[in-house]
Amino acid sequence: MITNPDIENYIYNLSIPEDPILLEMEKLGHKTGFPIVDRIVGRFLYIITKIKKPKLIVELGSGFGYSGYWFAKALDNGKVVLTDFSLENLNLAEKFFETGGLLKKAEFKAGDAIEIASTYKNIDILFIDIQKAKYKKAIETLKDNISTGGLVIADNTLWQGKVLEEHPDRQTKGIKEFNEYMFSNPDFFSVLIPIRDGVLLSYKLK
Ligand SMILES: C[S@@+](CC[C@H](N)C(=O)[O-])C[C@H]1O[C@@H](n2cnc3c(N)ncnc32)[C@H](O)[C@@H]1O
Repeated sequence: MITNPDIENYIYNLSIPEDPILLEMEKLGHKTGFPIVDRIVGRFLYIITKIKKPKLIVELGSGFGYSGYWFAKALDNGKVVLTDFSLENLNLAEKFFETGGLLKKAEFKAGDAIEIASTYKNIDILFIDIQKAKYKKAIETLKDNISTGGLVIADNTLWQGKVLEEHPDRQTKGIKEFNEYMFSNPDFFSVLIPIRDGVLLSYKLK
């Protein structure tokens, strides 16, 4: 945790999702140790989506659909594309979406997330939550597929604080290179928000 654990717990416990599907997904994530973005970031994704009113959200790394479900819930008139290597988890995501009545707002695509995303143009929100060593490749490959005025949101961009290490491992190096790219590229205006494990939010200027 990046923030004081008591503060993190305080923020976490300020809300309980009213939607029983989200609660079930949280339980599953906690029970199996599967790294969902969890409630604090989920609510952040929901608010950003409500403000932005995107037509197309593409998610890199969807697991069993927790983050994608928050996006879909907030969509008025658009769709979210969920991607993952694991067809089994995507099938589970599809079941959650079906039970929650959100199936019409989503597409589920199994395979390499970057390859799948590169088949979409005019992406309004690109959400990145795959292997950390692939973040920079993801944005380099997909930057022209994002609309001007579109957003990039990337999870784990403080990587349990390992970004401060002098001799970072491969994943940490990936995150650091991605953060530096997003802050130095003149096409993007970025901020790194220290909620949970760090969330980078970036606006595509041109
Ligand atoms: C952190 S989890 C995603 C959690 C999800 N965003 C959520 O909050 O519920 C990362 C997922 O990305 C998938 N993944 C990692 N690299 C990938 C890639 N290059 N292409 C497709 N899926 C990938 C893994 O299989 C894993 O399910």
